Amino acid sequence: MKKGRFYLVISVIVVSISLAIFWASNLALSTDYTEQYRPQFHFSPEENWMNDPNGMVYYEGEYHLFYQHNPHDNVWGPMYWGHAISKDMIEWEHRPIALEPDEIGTIFSGSAVVDWNNSTGFFDEKGEGLVAIFTHAGDGQSQSLAYSKDKGRTWEKYEGNPVIPSDPTIPDFRDPKVFWHDDTEKWVMAITAGKKVLFYGSHNLIEWDFLSEFGKGMGAQAGVWECPDLFELAIDGDPDHTKWVLQVDIGDGAIAGGSGAQYFIGEFDGTTFVSDHDPEQINWLDYGADFYAAQSFSDMPTEDGRRVMIAWMNNWLYANQVPTEVWRGAMSFPREMQLMTDSMGEIKVAQKPIEELNSLRGEQLFYLENEKVDQSFAKELLADIKADTFELFIEIDRNSLSDVGFKIRQSDNLEDETQIGFSSETNELFVERRQLDEIYFSPYFNGRHKVEIANSNTLTLQILVDQSSVEVFAQDGQYVITDLIFPNEDSVNMEFFLEGEEVFIHNLTIHSLQSIW
Ligand code: FRU
Repeated sequence: MKKGRFYLVISVIVVSISLAIFWASNLALSTDYTEQYRPQFHFSPEENWMNDPNGMVYYEGEYHLFYQHNPHDNVWGPMYWGHAISKDMIEWEHRPIALEPDEIGTIFSGSAVVDWNNSTGFFDEKGEGLVAIFTHAGDGQSQSLAYSKDKGRTWEKYEGNPVIPSDPTIPDFRDPKVFWHDDTEKWVMAITAGKKVLFYGSHNLIEWDFLSEFGKGMGAQAGVWECPDLFELAIDGDPDHTKWVLQVDIGDGAIAGGSGAQYFIGEFDGTTFVSDHDPEQINWLDYGADFYAAQSFSDMPTEDGRRVMIAWMNNWLYANQVPTEVWRGAMSFPREMQLMTDSMGEIKVAQKPIEELNSLRGEQLFYLENEKVDQSFAKELLADIKADTFELFIEIDRNSLSDVGFKIRQSDNLEDETQIGFSSETNELFVERRQLDEIYFSPYFNGRHKVEIANSNTLTLQILVDQSSVEVFAQDGQYVITDLIFPNEDSVNMEFFLEGEEVFIHNLTIHSLQSIW
């Protein structure tokens, strides 16, 4: 064979093999993440239904995110644990399903820990491994274990399941969150039962003793409590002054309607949680409609020390109807949780997007510093900016404030838009959203979600906008509003609105955010 011919044949073979591999790998992928509404920097499943984050744990350089998943349909159904792994909590690699229903029941929410000292006896070879503690939903709700000896790649259920049997007097008994309590040297489980949280203790994750209960008549009580989490946080960053935070979600009657998350600050001595608040005080973690079933990572690296939470960005009022088809459900952007003393001297939970967000920043779309902006300037300010996924930061003088804010994901004909603003008359931060007539899916979706902001000289907002969500962090994360939105693809205009004479802007910066897929 001539040399030229030989090379031609070889090239054709190489190209054909490459094409075949490319074709096969694309066949395996059910999505390219470009569908309408597909979140670009928030986690969503490749396909079908997802609700709560589960089993969040860090181990050997990897963050594990499991989630409530129906692999057969895009509505809630028989629950499995889906699974994804990340090195930075930003980019996720989808993994095969971790836990499937069995003869005891389907797999509801729960948590995971590293059993560092083989307290379970599951890890005789390596001496440590991952243990998941979850609710089996079948004939009643009972609590069970599964373990992984290969860094979460495969899971085996414990043969003695369940480890806490169901109780016919407690129909809603679920969502165990387990952590190691250093002072009393035991595992502690927080689990919801009706409208309470129960605490259990164990030395091996297998045998559990009831410790105490919390919640009778406390906080928001309109719906059943779900998905508790309990952790200790430093106050104002001082590790010598700490408080415990009990986060617990409520299935209905939350601040923006439907499901939502509340928290209590107090003391936990390894047995009992005592809240610092009056029983009638309600602390909402988020004032939007779409922040539910929040959970924090277990076993964060000690040199890191952060408490990072992720929630299901949805609401049970309409979760089964939101207008996505290939997949349904997304997670919030991971948040770092802190305790801070506010201007009234009260200790509050503050949340901010984890700093890894910076790695997603693309082009700087807009920048302005120390400028007085009047009505006519305001109109022009963002007229040339087009953006669909972006981060907006603004610090603005509050003394001179009138009603002010942004219209985002706006269409040319102005029919499609979401407003994020501050009303000085009522001191309220708000997000106002509405669904377009052509995608109408729920009577509960349209509306204004708001929170009153305590007095201060300036107002600062950090806003994350993705293809189908907005997250607004105000005053260093003291107030957060998380809402789903469903704008048209070509609704990419932005407007700065001002109802008043002028405002002083200290800083306004907009960056596009890149896709994680
Ligand atoms: C919260 C929840 C949990 C339950 C799971 C079932 O959204 O209702 O209480 O374990 O979802 O999917």
